[in-house]
Amino acid sequence: MTNDIYDPTYVAALFDRCTNNYRNWSAVSSFGFVRRWRRECVAMLPVNTNQDAVAVDLMAGTGEVWPHLLKRFPTLRTITALDISHKMHVDAVERLHANRADRITHLEANALTSDLPSDYADILLSTFGLKTFDQSQQTILAQQIARILKPGGHFSLIEASDPKGWPLRPFYRIYMDNVLPLIERLFLKGANDFSMIGTYTRNFVNCTHMKKSLEDAGLEVSYQKHFFGCATSVSGKKPIAHNVVAP
Ligand SMILES: C[S@@+](CC[C@H](N)C(=O)[O-])C[C@H]1O[C@@H](n2cnc3c(N)ncnc32)[C@H](O)[C@@H]1O
Repeated sequence: MTNDIYDPTYVAALFDRCTNNYRNWSAVSSFGFVRRWRRECVAMLPVNTNQDAVAVDLMAGTGEVWPHLLKRFPTLRTITALDISHKMHVDAVERLHANRADRITHLEANALTSDLPSDYADILLSTFGLKTFDQSQQTILAQQIARILKPGGHFSLIEASDPKGWPLRPFYRIYMDNVLPLIERLFLKGANDFSMIGTYTRNFVNCTHMKKSLEDAGLEVSYQKHFFGCATSVSGKKPIAHNVVAP
């Protein structure tokens, strides 16, 4: 087993272990902010998108964003949910989304090398799926996103970030680096898997590298901070006349 925290097999095993507690842990440890940020991520997609659209949810996890997506686009044809963790897919299908199973297509794959067709998605989104990519992987991911989107298609990506410059940042860091790992050790039998998510977030910093990578891949991009930079997002579209940069 590799110790490289950016190796896809390491990441898949980590999220397989996190699956059972992921939903509750992420909601409680963020004081509910993850739910608000998922809603904000979906709200950045223009509502006049073709309502018979095909959506792709990259790093979909247990599909926490789908209720928001289906509320904004009630007639979506399908959501293709791509995730590298087998257990995240199983949990999503069996426990959480049985009532909308006919609208979801599951793809267990690495987002950096997936064989999703080119010009496939009208809408592409990802909530909290960027932090486990280092900068060179983010560049590849941006090229994949540019390839998968239809010309004119829209994307929206949001990630927890390090709010550099915020006066309350020292408290935020103590909470992320000390309090959360302690709670995890006490309540999840000594585990430190969710603490790893804190490490990824610190290394990720914010969406600025992703913004540049998406622009270099030929997309139109806007960058936004959420709650003093505790999350950042990039959203935009693939221009109609677009030359794909090869991954
Ligand atoms: C923090 S969870 C986010 C899940 C969900 N989108 C949400 O809003 O809660 C990150 C997800 O990204 C997936 N992931 C990480 N690296 C990946 C990769 N290279 N390809 C596909 N999925 C990946 C993990 O398995 C995990 O389910």
